[in-house]
Amino acid sequence: KRLAILISGRGSNMQAFIDACSSGVLDAEIALVLSNNPDAGGLARAAEAGIPTACINHRNYDSRETFDAAMVAELSRHDPDLVILAGFMRILTPVFIEPFAGKLLNIHPSLLPKYPGLNTHQRALDAGDSEAGVTVHFVTPELDGGPPIIQARVPVETGDTAATLAARVIVQEHVIYPIAAGWVLQGRLRLTDKGAVLDGQPL
Ligand code: GRF
Repeated sequence: KRLAILISGRGSNMQAFIDACSSGVLDAEIALVLSNNPDAGGLARAAEAGIPTACINHRNYDSRETFDAAMVAELSRHDPDLVILAGFMRILTPVFIEPFAGKLLNIHPSLLPKYPGLNTHQRALDAGDSEAGVTVHFVTPELDGGPPIIQARVPVETGDTAATLAARVIVQEHVIYPIAAGWVLQGRLRLTDKGAVLDGQPL
């Protein structure tokens, strides 16, 4: 099975997939790591691991749609069975989402539907939440609104800052994301018009 991973930054979730594939936890190979950001640290990590990389810089395109079309063209060359958004920081349009519908996942650092969008940890702290976490979900045109697959919860500790909370959450991200991806690749998890279905059971 072939994975494509989209990143914009350091790529720690991408690294978790590199590790999962090399350890055999995931029966898959990473066919491409694609970034919109030429300075993304994850590009160097992927290259060090011998993984093909590409950079399609969104600044070179005059619309979200033309940028998305360029990414779709590049990704399609690698024929991925699953596309993973991992710290990918651009909003995708249906031009991208539709060709990969049902095989496009994202990880969002909050217990969706709480805190879609940015600055999720600070918002949880400001709200005085006693717990926070992360959600892996199918990607649909609704930003951070696709059917959830797996969530992980962490306690908010006294004195937490957004940084200390993020550091607690990211550990869980690296656990649940490869699990969710494995379910899709094994054909156990599907996106239907009624949401996510795992082993025939709606999630
Ligand atoms: C993480 O908080 C992740 O939840 C979000 O982007 C941040 C950085 O991810 N999607 P990574 O370290 O680049 O994988």
